[in-house]
Amino acid sequence: MDDCGVLLRQLLDPGCLEALSPRADELVLDLGCGEGEFTARIASRARRVVAVDRDARALDLARSRSPQVEYRLGDAHALPLRDEEWGGFDVVHARFLLESARDPANVVVQMMRAVRRGGRVVLADDDHEALCLWPECHHFSRAWAAYLRCFDSRGNDSIVGRRLVELLAAGGATALRNRSLSFDVCAGDPLFAHAVERLLGILGGARDVLLGGGFATAAELDLARSELAAWRLMSGASIWYVLRWTQGRRPG
Ligand SMILES: C[S@@+](CC[C@H](N)C(=O)[O-])C[C@H]1O[C@@H](n2cnc3c(N)ncnc32)[C@H](O)[C@@H]1O
Repeated sequence: MDDCGVLLRQLLDPGCLEALSPRADELVLDLGCGEGEFTARIASRARRVVAVDRDARALDLARSRSPQVEYRLGDAHALPLRDEEWGGFDVVHARFLLESARDPANVVVQMMRAVRRGGRVVLADDDHEALCLWPECHHFSRAWAAYLRCFDSRGNDSIVGRRLVELLAAGGATALRNRSLSFDVCAGDPLFAHAVERLLGILGGARDVLLGGGFATAAELDLARSELAAWRLMSGASIWYVLRWTQGRRPG
């Protein structure tokens, strides 16, 4: 498992599952399910799960992980549901989907059409500006801001998590509950090294795009990297991060 996977499985999934609390009598639709790790957790509690992703390779992995889930290839903007399935799901869920969706408002409208009257729509997504490192890492913070500008310039929304309640309300849902699920680690936590590697990996992976688009210079990225490498050795180092989560109901 890579650093991101370790963090998700250990830091985030338990809290997300608790917040979602799928019940044994519920039919759940999970959108943007990816490789299906979290979907498998939903399926361990729910009556039945249908899951959708546009990435066929991810779906193959997901199918091998939890054969009891019905995985479908498709786009969240045009859900691959049969006529009789619309309006029949008890819960429609999407985590880490809206940040990269072409039209998040349209995805929420699709979700509202898929859920039954009185059913739940649950959204969970990133708020990348909420990332906080302490003691401060000035070079890293500048590189992170450049990464977010680059991310957004490619049609993504780095702070879509803040918009979740607004998106639900615009889609016609009654917003019931919002939460921030924390994703925090400090020096001494066994997961701390994974979190630092993840940050280094994000900047390293985006290096060519950041340089090519003029979002940062090589010197700035190198400084950020070496600053983080020294920072991670500090006994007082901590990383604070939150996932924004909200739940709404389709009016009955
Ligand atoms: C970061 S992964 C999240 C996986 C899973 N939901 C989780 O929280 O662990 C985002 C997934 O959304 C999928 N995705 C992005 N846009 C999509 C769209 N318009 N329709 C269907 N899937 C989409 C991607 O293929 C990817 O597998």
